[in-house]
Amino acid sequence: MFDVHNFPVPAEWAKRAWVDAAKYQEMYRRSIDDPEGFWAEHGKRLDWIKPYSKVKDCSFGPDDVHIRWFEDGTLNASANCLDRHLEKRGDQTAIIWEGDNPKEDRKITYRELHEEVCRFANGLKSIGVKRGDRVTIYLPMIPEIAVAVLACARLGAPHSVVFGGFSPDSLAGRIVDCDSHYLITSDEGVRGGRPIPLKANADTALERCPDVKKVVVVKRTGGKVDWVDGRDVWYEDLVAKASPDCPPEEMNAEDPLFLLYTSGSTGKPKGVLHTTGGYMVFAAMTHQYVFDYHDGDIYWCTADVGWVTGHSYILYGPLANGATTLMFEGVPNYPDASRFWQVVDKHKVNIFYTAPTAIRALMREGEGPVKAASRASLRLLGSVGEPINPEAWLWYHEVVGDGRCPIVDTWWQTETGGIMITPLPGATKLKPGSGTLPFFGVQPALVDGDGKILDGAADGNLCMLDSWPGQMRTIFGDHERFVQTYFSTFPGKYFSGDGCRRDEDGYYWITGRVDDVINVSGHRMGTAEVESALVAHDKVAEAAVVGYPHDIKGQGIYAYVTLIAGEEPSDALMAELRKWVRKEIGPIATPDLIQWAPGLPKTRSGKIMRRILRKIAENQHGALGDISTLADPAVVDDLVENRQNR
Ligand code: WT7
Repeated sequence: MFDVHNFPVPAEWAKRAWVDAAKYQEMYRRSIDDPEGFWAEHGKRLDWIKPYSKVKDCSFGPDDVHIRWFEDGTLNASANCLDRHLEKRGDQTAIIWEGDNPKEDRKITYRELHEEVCRFANGLKSIGVKRGDRVTIYLPMIPEIAVAVLACARLGAPHSVVFGGFSPDSLAGRIVDCDSHYLITSDEGVRGGRPIPLKANADTALERCPDVKKVVVVKRTGGKVDWVDGRDVWYEDLVAKASPDCPPEEMNAEDPLFLLYTSGSTGKPKGVLHTTGGYMVFAAMTHQYVFDYHDGDIYWCTADVGWVTGHSYILYGPLANGATTLMFEGVPNYPDASRFWQVVDKHKVNIFYTAPTAIRALMREGEGPVKAASRASLRLLGSVGEPINPEAWLWYHEVVGDGRCPIVDTWWQTETGGIMITPLPGATKLKPGSGTLPFFGVQPALVDGDGKILDGAADGNLCMLDSWPGQMRTIFGDHERFVQTYFSTFPGKYFSGDGCRRDEDGYYWITGRVDDVINVSGHRMGTAEVESALVAHDKVAEAAVVGYPHDIKGQGIYAYVTLIAGEEPSDALMAELRKWVRKEIGPIATPDLIQWAPGLPKTRSGKIMRRILRKIAENQHGALGDISTLADPAVVDDLVENRQNR
């Protein structure tokens, strides 16, 4: 191992930042001692139509779980991202769009974005969209995804963005679950020089969604698409015909702003519901303090708007703050591995926020592609999505940041709406691999298996003791599942599903999921979802899926597959199963390793012993522990003998 030393706050940062170490302590203390007062004050960063008089009404149970923030205030999220900036910064660039093709880019000012959003909102109205209707958005990373999201927000129609990499089946499931009658998509997407058939996927999905009345199609490539007359409308036609005048709907702080589906340890993906006031306050405030955003900064988050990171830190947070936010259509290695840094130089990016998996992939290409760009504009680096190993952290710091840019390693979740555990660049001494300390208003606790709160340096399950404004409010259509999933393991506490260690300085170190969720390249995947895709194949009798350490992806997907009697394992069948899962869920769910399992290790009551499967997948078969309770201990020998990860 290398020497992992700490990185003190650079002097110039302590001076220029919104918050230094003393200020952090003072603000954090106040946020915990007097949450009502603290958030009453910080809620004012938004423009409210009717100001709130109540700040916080939250209960984590056990009897009643409810979460309400600013509940008697009214506002509109799109007006907070657009209208209120027009006077001061109408001509400032709101979005820098960088195409997949390095020759394509666009700059859109706040005034232009406002006009386009108003037109499209009117266009949506003209096809029937009303306040409260769920609108599904299945778009690539083009400016129209920002327009679509903000137009929905303007009308008070909750959006449900589905990542463009998901399959028709996954898209259909999400449309049906939230009973969405409108879909916005594009003819195709483009990534790494290759087209992605979004409209064709949508058409397939809609065979299963009879209630979808209208499909709006953005022209991205001009590629050929099938057309359903009466159902499909071109985005361009809607916008051209519509008036640019569209007053924002007055929404209650607790009216839904969006749903976003995410994987859990069991069952189908759940529709995480975020509301308007608290989410916007938290997204905007974290964006300002964590990235130390100041007027004039050029800010780039490389996530896709299809994930929560894109919602909070490409769109809502930065736009609420009047920032210039960069949206990138492409991938890190196209046309070559220098692309990120070329884009940084081209647009003079100051703040750069990406995922450990991208850093590890680029690290493998060596320093050349990084040094091919100056990166002189960079001032701050961020990391999100999975634990960052100290080796990747140090490379990011030394090579990408030339040793001069602090790194904010931000821990949060779709459920939390915004960043929860993170350094503040002017305040926090950094330790590579640690998310460091809680953001204002965040009260983490580590608890043992019995729910006992652990003090001091400890290792346990990461919970939250009280609410924060960006917290999800419920699972769409299933409040009982919300209570079960997050508040029943440790009654009275929000349980994140992550394991975590706290060191002697009070720094938090996320150790990864402790449930049956795996994190593949920063994308969350339920092992149960991959299993049910596998067993849907007619040659598969049974499947068990676990994660294993993967050099680039963080975790890879390891599938144990038992075939139905009479079927023979073959390389062709293995390839077919991998293709099958891609088709059923999407490329991100493709198993990396498949092992043919004549049987799975089960207890006498028939429960699969995943602990053993995990150990074998991790190539730790020497430490299987007690296997005497297995119904048939002999199956383990076969699995160890034929393990795929060595
Ligand atoms: C899970 C949430 C939040 C945006 C992207 C992912 C893991 C996230 C970190 C980090 C260690 C992290 C956790 C968490 N995770 N950020 N900085 N260090 N782990 O959102 O898809 O809801 O996944 O990602 O395991 O529970 P998500």
